[in-house]
Amino acid sequence: MLIDSHAHLLDERLATNIPQILAEYPQNDVAMSIEIGCDMQSSIGAVELSKKYKNIYAVVGCHPFCAEQITDNDLQTLFELAQNEKVVAIGEIGLDYHYDYDKTAQKSVLIKQIKLADQLKLPIVIHLRDAYQDMENILTEYKSYINNGILLHCYSGSKEMIDRFSFLDPYYAFGGSITFKNNNRAEVIRAVKKDRLMIETDCPYLTPVPHRGEINTPNFLKFVAERMALDLNISYEEVAKVTTENTLRFYRLNKEIL
Ligand code: NI
Repeated sequence: MLIDSHAHLLDERLATNIPQILAEYPQNDVAMSIEIGCDMQSSIGAVELSKKYKNIYAVVGCHPFCAEQITDNDLQTLFELAQNEKVVAIGEIGLDYHYDYDKTAQKSVLIKQIKLADQLKLPIVIHLRDAYQDMENILTEYKSYINNGILLHCYSGSKEMIDRFSFLDPYYAFGGSITFKNNNRAEVIRAVKKDRLMIETDCPYLTPVPHRGEINTPNFLKFVAERMALDLNISYEEVAKVTTENTLRFYRLNKEIL
């Protein structure tokens, strides 16, 4: 069985269909999904969703795209939300310089949420795009606040960055983009230690081949696992076993819940 370590079922493209999507998990080898908040609304929603469904867990936090809006009150709300037993991490938080969002605000909100996670003794889920040097600087400077695990979700960086981040021993999750044509990630995937590998969909985004053009859901996760198996030259079952164990360990979930 697979675990989708990063999903956004509450996105408007999926939200009205959640019961049906969940009903199809078993036939698609999906045991559970982790619902990731990006802003206050989706963080509150993720907790509500996790209360409603046994096989959904929640991650709460503010994505760099909403860094300019987040207030200290919001951070307090995140702290309170994280008291819920189904909240398993703070995320997705990070830096994204691909678009024109204020960099100073992004860095400040990232640092505040790293500290928040430490206070809560929760792991962090990092979104990182086109901002590798600043991320390395922040993670180095605030290393003493990172004591509960760190995951670089939808990792699109180089093999070299994996070496440079190794002082944190991060987990790395790969999604549908590893199946895309002209996007050979095999060398990067192989550079990650086996006990640090995860898979995800980041649905509704990044629909894997052969379903390009459709809206992504956790029910397409097996295509990511199949591609990872090819890239690592191991079986699908081995990918399922390793990534499921890693995801449970990172989010500190018991095997018995599967
Ligand atoms: Ni995401």
